[in-house]
Amino acid sequence: MKCQQFIAMTATAALALFVLLGPAAASDGELSPLDQLGKLLLFDTDLSTPLGQSCATCHAPETGFTGPDSLINATDAVYPGAVQVRFGNRKPPTAAYGGESPVLYFDEDEELWIGGMFWDGRATGWTLGDPLAEQAQGPFLNPVEQNNPRMKVVCDKVARSTYADLFEQVWGPGSLDCRTDLEAGYERIARSIAAYERSSEVNPFSSKYDDYLAGQAELTEQEAWGLELFEGKAMCSACHISEPGSGGEPPLFTDFTYDNLGVPRNPDNPWYSMPPFFNPDGEDWIDYGLGAFLRSQGAPPAVYEPELGKVKVPTLRNVDKRPYEGFVKSFAHNGYFKSLESITHFYNTRDVLDDCASLVDPEPGVNCWPAPEVSMNVNTDELGNLGLTPEEEAAIVAFMKTLSDGHTP
Ligand code: HEC
Ligand code: HEC
Repeated sequence: MKCQQFIAMTATAALALFVLLGPAAASDGELSPLDQLGKLLLFDTDLSTPLGQSCATCHAPETGFTGPDSLINATDAVYPGAVQVRFGNRKPPTAAYGGESPVLYFDEDEELWIGGMFWDGRATGWTLGDPLAEQAQGPFLNPVEQNNPRMKVVCDKVARSTYADLFEQVWGPGSLDCRTDLEAGYERIARSIAAYERSSEVNPFSSKYDDYLAGQAELTEQEAWGLELFEGKAMCSACHISEPGSGGEPPLFTDFTYDNLGVPRNPDNPWYSMPPFFNPDGEDWIDYGLGAFLRSQGAPPAVYEPELGKVKVPTLRNVDKRPYEGFVKSFAHNGYFKSLESITHFYNTRDVLDDCASLVDPEPGVNCWPAPEVSMNVNTDELGNLGLTPEEEAAIVAFMKTLSDGHTP
């Protein structure tokens, strides 16, 4: 949990950073040439080896820039790479509303890590000063994602693309010289994508809740009750900030901190059966999240141990956005939950239960949760036994459904 004030500060800092980093942002609803370039890159299915996979394959607009395949969401929850037999180890979070996550740092006062990209924060922003741009450098070269063997391959593809002219128009003549200035060109590719991910097309703030905050829509009785619980008895807004910032900035439904909710292991995660070259731990692999990343950076145990099992608080914007009713989405870093009802029930009853390890994603009303994937550092202050009635759980879910973009007041 983090205080509001801080969010307002980082929002301003992020904005300042953006102004520094790139050509001017477009006015409302319109994409600047830079944003447009980023969009073309994000949707380009030629930027993989073999061809066919773009960023949007795993981050599609119709689901709020997360995974667009109902069947995958309903089963593994993890998406195959361009090489279809290769899988990563986590569920794609949304690529939207992440632009204000600060460069990863440790807040001495709150004693919390804040910022970065990815569930474990490893796209820190420490190199480029921008976590989102740093993140965008990863997938093209990741063998379990777009799988290009080298930066040069990506650069050459962009240089041969139909939008190569736009690239030079945006970044200047000679800005994509893959032979003599490869690193700079590759960085510009990533910064262009980050610009689009920050654009008003990806972050329209056009949900019913935004209209409600602007006084242009009314919540139903159930939604309003859900909001009251979200900010009160259920304590959700302690991490998923729901109030506008002090300068009126719309809430992002995350404070960019890290927590271990005690989410169970997802036994269907295909990563467990990936060959040892990718996953040397096989079935025994445990997702230690931020703690594992810090350990990999050489942090001493006193620093990384308190973070083992923690993952970044995701935004809840568009958490229910789906192309059609009945389309399944998965929730949490490993996609263990298959409905908003069930994850809400988990918050309410994690610590109330009988242990029955075989039951994955129990229906609301059944108190039955397997052990946490990581039993260290589980948050027992803000969740686990909330004492919510089934009607209260349903109201919270109804409220979360007001967070989907595309509402018309
Ligand atoms: C094969 C599926 C796949 C592809 C392709 C892919 N991603 Fe992702 N993306 C993921 C997964 C899985 C994660 C979470 C990984 C983790 O946390 O370890 C992720 C994380 C992210 C995040 C971090 C969000 C946050 O809040 O931390 C962003 C942003 C993102 N991807 C953007 C992109 C961009 C840009 C591209 C193309 C250059 C891309 N992704 C390609 C699956 C994919
Ligand atoms: C202590 C901080 C904290 C509190 C309080 C909290 N959350 Fe979360 N929330 C998280 C974290 C961290 C995750 C990711 C957990 C994981 O992946 O293991 C998460 C994930 C989620 C997700 C899944 C989002 C996705 O894209 O996968 C939903 C939905 C959600 N929370 C709703 C709620 C609701 C409803 C409440 C109140 C009942 C609540 N949260 C309270 C920190 C919190």
